[in-house]
Amino acid sequence: MNILLLGSGGREHAIAYKIAQSAQCNQLFIAPGNAGTEKVGENVKLDIADFEAVGQFAISHRVEMVVVGPEAPLVAGIADYFAEQSLLKNIMVIGPSKQGAMLEGSKDYAKAFMLRHNIPTAHYRTFTAETLAQGEQFLESLKAPYVLKADGLAAGKGVLIEDNLATAKAHLREMLKERKFGDASASVVIEEYLDGIEMSVFVLTDGSHYLLLPSAKDYKRIGEGDTGLNTGGMGSVSPVPFADKAFMKKVEDRIVKPTVRGLRDEKIPYCGFIFIGLMCKNIGTEEAEPYVIEYNVRMGDPETESVFPRIKNDVVELFENAAHGNLDGCKLEVDPRTAACVMMVADGYPESYKKGDLIDLGTDDETLIFHCGTKRNELGKLATNGGRVLCATALANSLPEALLKSYNRCMGITWNGKYYRRDIGQDLLKLMQEG
Ligand code: AMP
Ligand code: GLY
Repeated sequence: MNILLLGSGGREHAIAYKIAQSAQCNQLFIAPGNAGTEKVGENVKLDIADFEAVGQFAISHRVEMVVVGPEAPLVAGIADYFAEQSLLKNIMVIGPSKQGAMLEGSKDYAKAFMLRHNIPTAHYRTFTAETLAQGEQFLESLKAPYVLKADGLAAGKGVLIEDNLATAKAHLREMLKERKFGDASASVVIEEYLDGIEMSVFVLTDGSHYLLLPSAKDYKRIGEGDTGLNTGGMGSVSPVPFADKAFMKKVEDRIVKPTVRGLRDEKIPYCGFIFIGLMCKNIGTEEAEPYVIEYNVRMGDPETESVFPRIKNDVVELFENAAHGNLDGCKLEVDPRTAACVMMVADGYPESYKKGDLIDLGTDDETLIFHCGTKRNELGKLATNGGRVLCATALANSLPEALLKSYNRCMGITWNGKYYRRDIGQDLLKLMQEG
C-alpha cells in the first residue's frame, strides 16, 4: 500500500525507516520530511496543517494509510477530517480523534480524565483569569517547589517550576492576565510537585486493546548533569534499566489499562500512540510507584529513535491492525538489546542558532543515523536546518556498549558548531551500580 507519514523530525525518520522495511509498503511519502527521510521514501512539499491539501494528496497518490508524527495536526482534528470526508474515510489514520488528542491539547482535560479513571497523578486545580485570587490561595496551601502548567499546547515551554512563592504567584498572574503563553495559558493547572525519576512509556492502541511498546528515558536539558534550558530532547535510552517487570506491571495495571479502558468507556475514538510521561517515586524499593506527569498523543522525540529500532514486528502490520481494532491479535516482538541515542544539536540551541552549515557524516558503520533538522542545499550538499540536527542510535548487549558505539559515531560527524551532551545514560549507569 501507499503510505503518507506527516512530520519532519528525527521521530519521523525513525518511523519512516521502520515503515520502509515493511513488505506491505509500496510507496512511502513523507510530508515535508528531511534529508534523512528522502533516503527511505519520497519527501513531498505539503503543509500538514492544511488538511484539504493533505486529503487531496492522499487521493491523488492512492494513499491507504496516513501516519501522523507530531501532535499539532491531531489536536487540530486531522483524524476527524479524514473520517468525515466520503473520499477519505476509508484511509487508515494512525493518530487519535480531536477528542482523544485533548489528552495532550489540554492539561486540564487530561487531569480530569485521570481523576475520573483513578489514574495516579499529582493533586491539582485549574484556574482562569477570573479565579486568579483562588489560584494564589491554592499556591499558598502547597509546599515548594510550585508547578504551573499552561493548559494548552505551548511548544513544550508551558511548564514552570518555581521555588519561591512570590515568584510563582507572579508567574501565575503573567500566565493568566498577560497571556504569557498566548491562549495556551488562558487556563493554568497548578499541581503538587512530585519527586522521583522520569521515564516515558509508549502504547499503541486501537481504542480497546493495546500493545505496550518498549519504554525509554530521555534527557531534556541542554547541559550535562541535567542543567540549563529545556530542549526537545538531547538523547534517549531504551529500555529503562530500573523499570523492571514488577514496576512495569504496576505501570500497566494502574495506568495503561485504566487509560485505554477510559478511552473505550467514554467512546473516545483513538487509534494511535499514547506517550505517558511518568514520574517514578521510590525507585529501588518495594514501594516504587508510577505517577502520570503528562499524556502525549504521539511518539516522543528522541525516544522514538531508540524505541522503534527495537521493534522487530512489521510496523505497517501493527498499524493496520490498530486501524481495524485488531490489536488483540498482535504480539510485539522486541529486540532485547539496549538502544542508546545521542542527539547532536547546533551551537546556541535551544535559543538562536545558525542554519545551513555543511555536514560531514564521516564513515558509515552499523550505528543508525536519524536526521532531525537537515536539508540538501542548492548544491545538493547536506546542511543543518534546525536546532536538533542529527542523532546516532546504537544497539548493543549492554548500556555502556551501546553508549560507546553511539558516541564513537557522533565523534566522526562534523559541522561548524556541533554540540552534544556527553553524559547520556550516565545517571542510569550510576543507579544500576548503586542498586
Ligand atoms: P510536561 O510538559 O508536563 O512534561 O512538564 C515538563 C517537565 O516538568 C517534566 O518533564 C518534568 O520534569 C517537570 N514536571 C512536570 N510536572 C511535574 C510535577 N508535578 N512534579 C515534578 N516535576 C514536574
Ligand atoms: N521527548 C519528549 C517529547 O517528545 O515530548
